Amino acid sequence: MTAKDAAIALFRERYGEEPDLIVRSPGRVNLIGEHTDYNEGFVLPMAITLSTWAAVAASGDDTVNLASVGHDDATFSLNDLMSSDRSWSAYVRGSAWVTGAPETAGWNGAFATDIPIGAGLSSSAALEIAALRIFAAMSDRAWNPVQAARDARSIENDWMGLGSGIMDQLIVATARERHATLIDCRDLTTKPIRVPDDIAIVILDTGTRRRLVESSYDERRSACIRAAAAAGVPALRDLGGDDLETLARVVDERTLARARHVITENMRTLEAAEALAANDLRRFGRLVNASHTSLRHDFAVSSPALDHMVELASGTEGCLGARMTGAGFGGCAVAFVEPDAVDDMVTEVTTRYRDAAFGIPSAYVTTPASAATVETP
Ligand code: GLA
Repeated sequence: MTAKDAAIALFRERYGEEPDLIVRSPGRVNLIGEHTDYNEGFVLPMAITLSTWAAVAASGDDTVNLASVGHDDATFSLNDLMSSDRSWSAYVRGSAWVTGAPETAGWNGAFATDIPIGAGLSSSAALEIAALRIFAAMSDRAWNPVQAARDARSIENDWMGLGSGIMDQLIVATARERHATLIDCRDLTTKPIRVPDDIAIVILDTGTRRRLVESSYDERRSACIRAAAAAGVPALRDLGGDDLETLARVVDERTLARARHVITENMRTLEAAEALAANDLRRFGRLVNASHTSLRHDFAVSSPALDHMVELASGTEGCLGARMTGAGFGGCAVAFVEPDAVDDMVTEVTTRYRDAAFGIPSAYVTTPASAATVETP
């Protein structure tokens, strides 16, 4: 059964009626531009076909009743959002909090997703944007995607207390079908870049999940802030390759390496967007490979499992480039492959990866999907 059908079936079973709205909210994969968003730099993500679905109808009072395939039910009143609960429903309470929780907008919802959780494909941004779309629809408020992305980041940072930039929320809210999006994370402007049909995008899940990802993420972010402050600029976005020599005189070697990743990654991302738009897939692939090397050595957020997956993928016939994607430390790699070579590539990589016993691999061949949508069934 598809996630959409599962959400509708669960809605009927729990609430004994038909839903009024169906919301789809996609996961994302970042093609290039990693750990640059919180440095006010550039990212090039796209929404993916794996999505979170919600079937929804008004509850008629101030309660929000939630059900989700594979998770516990939850209920809360829009007049009482405080709770120590940190399960999936906390993201929905956070959405009510950030939008001001109008008393009349209670709803019943049933959720299902085919985005793997904790794999670095932004299942949490998908849930935040889904919940915000539902609250907007239930209170007849106009949908403003960029504002929704800001609100969703606030749910993540201020309500859940988790560090993140704005890339995930912004792409889930603004993505265009068949396009990746070049985002300037300083002014939040977006430029859709057509993904050529002669490149297949393969997400390779290492099956590994790293527990300490939060503290390591915060540590990297602090190093970047330190480096920018030492250079006397608002963010690392304001530095270029020529500034590295000066920076080397005012920060330690490790901080310099972190900054070098961000500075060079911003340049790679702009060039990769150009290469993709020009259908120069060899150049695009080289930039992707260089991004992985920089994340591995300078930013130190890869892992043995990710390195192994990337190495296997890069070594297969028809692979133009591969890198870790998302925060790192575990989760997924992304590979860009000639369409005819995809089946053999996936079989070869997953078979050989299994031998190394890091985890059980999964592969998803995906295409660029559109931003979150609301439809009436
Ligand atoms: C996570 C965060 C994003 C971004 C990436 C790294 O996915 O949520 O904001 O910082 O890590 O590029």
